Amino acid sequence: MSIKKADSAGFCFGVNRAINIVNELLEKGIKVATLGPIIHNMEMVHELEERGCTPVKAVDELTDDTTLVIRSHGVEKSVIDSLVKRGINFEDATCPFVKKIHKIVSNTNPENDVVLIAGNKNHPEVCGIIGHCASDCYTFNNEAELDDLLPNILKENNKQVQIVAQTTFDTQEWKKCVKKIKKLCTNAKIFDTICNATQVRQTEASQIAAESDFMVVIGDRHSSNTGKLFDICKRQCENTVLIETAAELDLNKVSVAESIGVTAGASTPARIIKEVLDTMSEVKSGETNLEPSFEEMLE
Ligand code: F3S
Repeated sequence: MSIKKADSAGFCFGVNRAINIVNELLEKGIKVATLGPIIHNMEMVHELEERGCTPVKAVDELTDDTTLVIRSHGVEKSVIDSLVKRGINFEDATCPFVKKIHKIVSNTNPENDVVLIAGNKNHPEVCGIIGHCASDCYTFNNEAELDDLLPNILKENNKQVQIVAQTTFDTQEWKKCVKKIKKLCTNAKIFDTICNATQVRQTEASQIAAESDFMVVIGDRHSSNTGKLFDICKRQCENTVLIETAAELDLNKVSVAESIGVTAGASTPARIIKEVLDTMSEVKSGETNLEPSFEEMLE
C-alpha cells in the first residue's frame, strides 16, 4: 500500500504572501480587515479574526483605524479608487499573476478591442478583472459557452478579440478553448494567464490520480480551484473524494485502497493536510479501530 501526496498540495505563493501580510500587520498591533474571507478556510479565518483580522462585505463597513488587506484574488479598480478617495489605509496583496491580467485588460482600447475572460463570472478574481477592463468584456466557463459566445461577438462587431483566463482555470479546458478560438478567430490575441502554480498543481494532481485507486482532494467546498482539482482527479480516478478536514475521511475506503493519492487546494493549510495524512497512516498501521462496513455487518 502506498500514499502519495502531491508536492504542490496546499498554499500557493500568492495565498502565502497575503497571509504573511496580514500576520505582519497583526504582529504590529494594527487592526486589519479583508473584503471577504482572506482564504477559503473558515478555521483559519476564525483564528485570524480572534487576533484582530475581520472580514467585511463592503468598503463602507471599514473604520478609520483599520488597515484593509486586499486579498490575493484582487478587486475591481473602483474599489481601489474608493479606498484612495476615503483615505483608508490598505495593503495590496493582489497576487502578481492576477495583477498581470489587470494590466492586460486595462491596456485595451474600447474603440478597437473586445475582451473575453475564461472563468467563473461570479468568482471574486473574475469580478476584479472585469472591473479593470477598459473595453467591453464577456466571460465563458468552458468550450461550450465559448462556442455560443464567440460567433455572436464576431458577427456584432469588427473589433480585435483579446482573451485572458482566470489564474485557476482548468488547463485542459483552456487548451480546448484556445483550439476553438484559433479556428473561429485567427487574429485573436490570446494571453495564457493561468498561473504557474495552478498548472503545476493540476498536472501533478492528474498524474497522481491516474496512478491511484483512491484519490483524496483536500480543500474548502467554496474554493473554485479545489473544485477544479476534484474534477480533474475524477476524470482520472473514479474513486475521488473532496474533503474539508480529516474527520470527513472514509476510513474504510482508506483501509482497502492499495494506492492512495492526495492533493489539496491553494488555500488549504499545511496543518489540515498533515492531519489527513496522519489519519491515513494510522488506519494503515492498524492503530485505528474501523467501524464495520454495511456489507460486513450483513455477513
Ligand atoms: Fe496567485 Fe496562482 Fe495562487 S494566481 S494566488 S499563485 S493560485
